[in-house]
Amino acid sequence: MSMRNTTMRYGTLAGLALAVFATSLSAAEPLPGIQPRSQAPTLGTPMSADDITAWNLTIFPDGRGLPPGHGTPDQGGTLFAAHCERCHGVEGRGATADELVGPPTPPTDADPNKSIGSYWPYATTIFDFIRRNKPPETSGSLSNDEIYSLTAYLLAANKIIGTQDVIDAKSLAQVKMPNRDGFVRIDAP
Ligand code: HEC
Repeated sequence: MSMRNTTMRYGTLAGLALAVFATSLSAAEPLPGIQPRSQAPTLGTPMSADDITAWNLTIFPDGRGLPPGHGTPDQGGTLFAAHCERCHGVEGRGATADELVGPPTPPTDADPNKSIGSYWPYATTIFDFIRRNKPPETSGSLSNDEIYSLTAYLLAANKIIGTQDVIDAKSLAQVKMPNRDGFVRIDAP
């Protein structure tokens, strides 16, 4: 642990040194052999705000980045049957693709269960994962309400929320996954 902290401190120092170096460079003459910016080729176009929104999909564990919208387990169940069941099985019990529903107990050697309730530390990641990937052939086709509904369905099927609960940006961030404390943070200070 202390070795890791030391490495991180060196990392921070190196970053600082680079920042200082870069600042001193920008004020100085261009280095020999490097074109000044005014002579550089003008390639590409700046991204528009809409382009950035379409790419800026990161959702943080605490819910930052979650878009407006909401959904319920019932609505999600209908969507799951239409878009997910053929690979993930009836009620997410697994078919050609992973089971998504299982007992919310930490994986053990005897039962290395990696379903969502057992293996995912943050509920917000479910939204992020579905939005980026699902369904595989037409990822990006689901609306935010549909993704909230599918997330609600998977949480309810794993008995983490009630079957009548509404999931939106606020309530999703408040869901505590059963095995959250079974993970070691690798980015802790
Ligand atoms: C064509 C088959 C297919 C369809 C349809 C499909 N999935 Fe998947 N899914 C997979 C496969 C294969 C994996 C495992 C590989 C991966 O992570 O991409 C997976 C992984 C996942 C995972 C991560 C599982 C874990 O614990 O790592 C989630 C969550 C998920 N799918 C949700 C969905 C949802 C929701 C839908 C419907 C909107 C859906 N999938 C539709 C094939 C599919």
